[in-house]
Amino acid sequence: MSASGSPSQRYAAGVARGDWQDDPAQRAVLPELDRLHAALSQPPARRGALKRLFGRGDAPEAIDGLYLWGGVGRGKTFLIDLFIDALPLKELKGEALSGAPLPDTGSGGDRSQSERWGEGLSNAEALSGVPLPDTGRGGDRSQSERWGEGLSNAEALSGVPLPDTGRGGDRSQGERWGEGDGSAPAPADPRLGGKRRTHFHRFMRGVHEQLRGHAGERDPIAAVVRQWREAGLRVLALDEFFVTDIGDAMLLARLLERMFGEGIVLVTTSNIAPDGLYRDGLQRARFLPAIELLKAHCRVLEMASDTDYRLRALTRSPVYRTPLDAGAADWLAERWRALGGGERRRDGGIVVDGRRIAVRARAPGMAWFDFDALCEGPRGSADYIQIAREFHTVLVGGVPQFDDTRNDAARRFVTLVDELYDRHVNLVCTAAAEPPALYAGERLAATFERTASRLIEMRSAEYLARPHRP
Ligand SMILES: Nc1ncnc2c1ncn2[C@@H]1O[C@H](COP(=O)(O)OP(=O)(O)OP(=O)(O)O)[C@@H](O)[C@H]1O
Ligand SMILES: [Mg+2]
Repeated sequence: MSASGSPSQRYAAGVARGDWQDDPAQRAVLPELDRLHAALSQPPARRGALKRLFGRGDAPEAIDGLYLWGGVGRGKTFLIDLFIDALPLKELKGEALSGAPLPDTGSGGDRSQSERWGEGLSNAEALSGVPLPDTGRGGDRSQSERWGEGLSNAEALSGVPLPDTGRGGDRSQGERWGEGDGSAPAPADPRLGGKRRTHFHRFMRGVHEQLRGHAGERDPIAAVVRQWREAGLRVLALDEFFVTDIGDAMLLARLLERMFGEGIVLVTTSNIAPDGLYRDGLQRARFLPAIELLKAHCRVLEMASDTDYRLRALTRSPVYRTPLDAGAADWLAERWRALGGGERRRDGGIVVDGRRIAVRARAPGMAWFDFDALCEGPRGSADYIQIAREFHTVLVGGVPQFDDTRNDAARRFVTLVDELYDRHVNLVCTAAAEPPALYAGERLAATFERTASRLIEMRSAEYLARPHRP
């Protein structure tokens, strides 16, 4: 066992430090996390010679994964994050799994490559063009090593090698979950293989992209999964397992079959039980084997906690603040911290279709934008859909009062609010006026009525309690 301890030891330590609250429903999950931690802290066991003759000889013995589901804000992501941090495995980035050749580029990064992924929760430096304070790579790296940031980290995709620092010192205290916790990620033991965490939606986009690279081959899915194995992937943590796209649904059974066949351990969070996945989806029969595979290879655990920590934090103070006075920026920063966003960090933003949207800060499931970055300039619904899928909570600073001179920005804001609303994203914002007075022009007055009404509804505890629909 690594010196940094098992998940239950880490959990207890955080409780003792006062970093988080002791929660019986969370504690009930810890034995499963400890089981996985212990199993994965051993080098992969190889299948016996006989089995090797008949099966894939290089696949390690199967370890049951975990499908952790339950209501919103219960701490599922929090627990899986704690688990992944505690694992003494090397953290793998998207690039490591993409099989892409590693171009020997300078530290500017390979912009086109990261844009090809189109995902771009990207590393600051490479994509922003904004010079970063000279923190050194180690400091940046920590950002990408968190939920939902890894796959398209520009640095990772660009293949620019990172200095092989131990991970322990990578994250400054307070960067994670808003706690100055002493629970740094466990140092990696190279014999144990690699761990990868990402958001389900982003993961699927990456899979589709990688499959395109194998188009025409006999079994592209097998080829992609084999690549992951060859890159050392042993544990894949997917946040927010949620299937709506028929394209995802149709390939998941085969993908999971190959993953489990290769001995990759899946650890995932969801708001729904496996049997409810892709309910009412087109051609659902073809998805059912995926559900069976999940149930066969993951222990399914419901987190039946009474406490919605996120809702508690959201309703402790309003989510919509007006006017844009001197205190507005501080208020939003305080909301960010209260919601678990941690310290503000420079971040290169999100790349959608090759265009960067600057973010002020990012944390698992959460992003903080300035209004101008989101709604001024060539943005459209594709950008907002991606944001709404990847973040359950979005902070927007500085929504202005619109008039007929700002109809383009107003129209984009309308689209943004529609997308956030449809996917039940929590919106926390500072604005120049209350929703009904936010649009003072003529042309979009009728359209904006819906937006104002939605903004009002989005402040309600009922709306805030709705599960994110990624
Ligand atoms: N035991 C705890 N004490 C204090 N805060 C907690 C605790 N567990 C979780 N939190 C905080 O509550 C918030 C919600 O937790 P988390 O995001 O893990 O919920 P979730 O179950 O993943 O929700 P969703 O299903 O919407 O993704 C986070 O800010 C997290 O840090
Ligand atoms: Mg979550």
